[in-house]
Amino acid sequence: MTLMNPLVRPVITDDDGRSEDEKLVTFEARVAAGEKIEPTDWMPDRYRQQLIRMVQNHGNSEIVGALPEREWIPHAPTFKRKLALTAKVQDEVGHAQLLYRVVETLGKPREVIIEELLNGTAKYSNVFNYPPETWADVGIIAWLIDAAAIIRQMLLREGSYGPYSRALKRICYEESFHLKHGHDICVTLATGTQFQRDMLQDALNRWWNPIVGFFGPPDRASVHTDELMRWRVKLKTNDAIRQQFFDQYVPRIWELGLSIPDPELRKDDESGRWLYTEPDWEEFKRVIKGHGPCNAERIAVRRLAHEEGEWVRRALAAAANDQAVPVQ
Ligand SMILES: [Fe+2]
Ligand SMILES: [Fe+2]
Repeated sequence: MTLMNPLVRPVITDDDGRSEDEKLVTFEARVAAGEKIEPTDWMPDRYRQQLIRMVQNHGNSEIVGALPEREWIPHAPTFKRKLALTAKVQDEVGHAQLLYRVVETLGKPREVIIEELLNGTAKYSNVFNYPPETWADVGIIAWLIDAAAIIRQMLLREGSYGPYSRALKRICYEESFHLKHGHDICVTLATGTQFQRDMLQDALNRWWNPIVGFFGPPDRASVHTDELMRWRVKLKTNDAIRQQFFDQYVPRIWELGLSIPDPELRKDDESGRWLYTEPDWEEFKRVIKGHGPCNAERIAVRRLAHEEGEWVRRALAAAANDQAVPVQ
């Protein structure tokens, strides 16, 4: 046995003479010990594919998630709100860039990631395929959808793939500002006029089911969870994260004097679990397959932005080429 310099990670390559099974044993032992897996390390193909699927989906959700909020920048009620919302939208697009970079470390080129989003074959979070109808929607999205995202991402941050974990550290830090911005909008409306309170309640009524569905299909229907948890890509199941969201946010929603539009929602004293009406999972499947209220609009806007940004990409490529030419 050789002693390892703790500062230099040995690179496990495909040609070190060990069988795939032996490499898998080492890989799983490292993951179980809480080590981070780096892009140059050997990893099972399924691990790579699962991470690509998840992180690409996450990156797409960040970039598409910026679109419903972006619609409201011109209509924000004050200059301060406009600045905060603009900063949030910029952050979300930046998150997508960080996450696409993580996917690239796993071997999938950015051009392919973008093409799959634009041609409608890539997936992203369903919640962003619903329309933001009023200013209160902007508050509910930034408060509760970002809260849901933070709960999920703080767990993923402890996961086994190094580049994803490090990207999430920064992302979670920024998401916590988004949450405060959203909470502040909701508190302002909840303590405002009757009209403002009604607007906020109406927004919660429309967004509640998409938010509950945000954590993904129930564990009984999830085909990926066992494998993802064994390799510490995921640290909790969808249902467990959903329960954590209820624990943390149902009391805070009630605190604002809002009612949650689910007559079944209550915490069962015996099991300690929240009972609730499950979202319509058939609708969930329809939306994820591209048939939600805003799927076509989101992709069309994204495609237009991509086309309008073509000159920027060409200019950057030309500048990079110029730099590559040796000075005479
Ligand atoms: Fe984000
Ligand atoms: Fe956010």
